[in-house]
Order: sequence, then C-alpha cells, then structure tokens
Amino acid sequence: MPRSFVWVCVLSAATLATSQAVAADAIAGKKKAASCAVCHGIDGLHKAPDAPNLAGNSAEYIIKQLKAFQTGARQHEQMSIIAKGLKGGDVDNLAAWYSSLKVTVEMPK
Ligand code: HEC
Repeated sequence: MPRSFVWVCVLSAATLATSQAVAADAIAGKKKAASCAVCHGIDGLHKAPDAPNLAGNSAEYIIKQLKAFQTGARQHEQMSIIAKGLKGGDVDNLAAWYSSLKVTVEMPK
C-alpha cells in the first residue's frame, strides 16, 4: 500500500475523531443519563416495562426521537416533559453515550 494513502487514512480518522469529540461528549451524556436510569436502566437496558432499551441504538435515531418529543411530533406523557427539560448539548451527549454502549444478542436456538 503506498505510504501517502496510509497517511490520508490516518489523517481522516484523526479529523473524524476530533470533530465527533467537539460535537458530542459521551462522558457528559453518561452523567446526564443518571436521570434516565430509573426507566431506561443504568446500562441502557430498560427497567420500566413500557420503556424501550436505549443501549446500542444509533446516535442519529436517539437524537431524532428526543427532538420529536421536544417539538411534539412524538408525544408521551412522561418523555415529552423529560425531553423538553434537556438543555444545550444534552441531546447530542446522551445520544453519544447510549450509542457507545455495546449490546450483544443471543438468538433463540
Ligand atoms: C419515567 C420513565 C422515563 C424516564 C425517567 C425517561 N424515559 Fe425515555 N422513555 C420512557 C418511555 C415509557 C418511553 C416510550 C415512549 C412511547 O411509548 O412512545 C421512552 C422513550 C424514549 C426514547 C425513544 C426510544 C425509542 O426507541 O423509541 C428515547 C430516545 C428516550 N426515551 C430517552 C430518554 C432519556 C435520554 C432520558 C433521560 C434524560 C429518559 N428517556 C428518561 C420512559 C422514561
């Protein structure tokens, strides 16, 4: 593999990592997620029977759902209030946190 090609890959990976770190902070999201744990679980696997798992969902999906609760496009007695209470980078940070959790699935035999 030509050396210049390898450098382009390394540089683009570095740029990508930096821009993501600026856009969303998974550690801040983890702290904020403490307020979600009673229903969605500390590990993003739901505790309340009517709450979905959040662990391992894509950040894109989580952001889309939280924004839908905020605008009213999606409505739920509790989540609409909770989502509207999120400020600043909370939505992006929470999405970064939950999407960083790795989920394994066991298929039925
Ligand atoms: C009191 C329980 C409760 C708390 C606390 C709570 N949620 Fe929820 N959440 C729910 C329920 C129930 C739903 C399913 C709503 C529905 O049926 O449309 C939900 C749905 C969601 C969804 C949509 C997921 C999907 O797959 O459709 C997201 C994202 C979400 N919650 C994020 C959060 C975040 C982030 C927090 C903390 C800031 C939080 N929730 C706190 C109960 C809760």
